[in-house]
Amino acid sequence: MPSRPVLYAQLFLCTVNVGWVTVSFVFVEHFTFRRLLFRHMWIWPFHSDSIIDSGVGDVLLNPWRELSWTEKGRGSLRKNLVSFKPACQSLNQVRVLLMGPPGSGKSSFINSVRSVMFGRVLLLPFIGTATKGFIKKLKSYDIRSERGGKPTALTLCDVLALGDGETTGLTLPDALAVIKGHAPEGHKFQSDAPIKAETSGYRPNPSVNDQIHCAVFVLNACQVMTTSEDLTETLRTLQAEISDLDIPQVVLLTHVDQVCHAVQEDVKFVYSSRILQEKMQKAAEVVGLPVSYVLPVKNYSSELSVSCNTDILLLSAVHHILQAVDDTFEDYCPPTPADASPVTGICSASPVQCQSSPVFNV
Ligand SMILES: *[C@@H]1O[C@H](CO)[C@@H](O)[C@H](O)[C@H]1NC(C)=O
Repeated sequence: MPSRPVLYAQLFLCTVNVGWVTVSFVFVEHFTFRRLLFRHMWIWPFHSDSIIDSGVGDVLLNPWRELSWTEKGRGSLRKNLVSFKPACQSLNQVRVLLMGPPGSGKSSFINSVRSVMFGRVLLLPFIGTATKGFIKKLKSYDIRSERGGKPTALTLCDVLALGDGETTGLTLPDALAVIKGHAPEGHKFQSDAPIKAETSGYRPNPSVNDQIHCAVFVLNACQVMTTSEDLTETLRTLQAEISDLDIPQVVLLTHVDQVCHAVQEDVKFVYSSRILQEKMQKAAEVVGLPVSYVLPVKNYSSELSVSCNTDILLLSAVHHILQAVDDTFEDYCPPTPADASPVTGICSASPVQCQSSPVFNV
């Protein structure tokens, strides 16, 4: 006997504010209805700050950040990453350091970005889950444009998770040593052995390519509201120290699908979810950066195939990180050897100009 499909239905009180008119009604929610409702939200012919309170999470009518949720949008974001070359020519690779407490999702972000590029969810042994998410080494991951393809200009660096206090996790001096490029690849973090000149592989004079070009604070949307005072203090101190180094910083807010039903259904609602807006504001406040520096993402650990909108969210976060690096390093770019080489004559530099120059026209 075939079993009957079970219909999950829930009753919700729905309130719609249209200017000064408030309409309330009760509806039976099931998936089809919800989709229908969301679809209508986008085509309602008025602009206001009206909110639909569906009881499962407030969804704003107008997203507060625009993103193109289309295949084309994904294609162009992907192309941006593959063809990205830092504006500062002495930078070969953009090294992005991920820092966050255990369970914030640093490693799954790395795997998710790789999944986006490979076009399928990677079934790698999960980086770092073996001992409850503790990466003890400095490890850099090149992001390739496809499986076995050329590396993109992006390198994601993972380190020991941040602790709650001074004694556990990544210490401030170690974090700064990594950011300045003193720590060698594979350096093993030990709380009783801070990185110093005697550390094996220590780089006393790191080049611009050894250093970190963007510091990313990774926070879990499920936990951000209850961030401990100790962690807040750690994050703010790091933020202030990194600001002094003139290195761009952003906040990556992970697990956004777990705090809002609408987002769980489709991540394209990230910028329409009021709950998520609050979490992003809190994340900004915890680190001490403006909300515009907070980038929401969702990982690829439960699905088996990539989805367009999750890709877009991940790629858009990467895009903002690379943008932040370009904006900053344009001003602090050291000259490349090519820039310093003597000019060998205007003709070789610009033949078009030479031909039209009066000397050749005589
Ligand atoms: C990936 O995201 C899901 C949903 O937000 C979460 O349940 C899971 O723990 C995450 N996986 C990792 C390894 O962070």
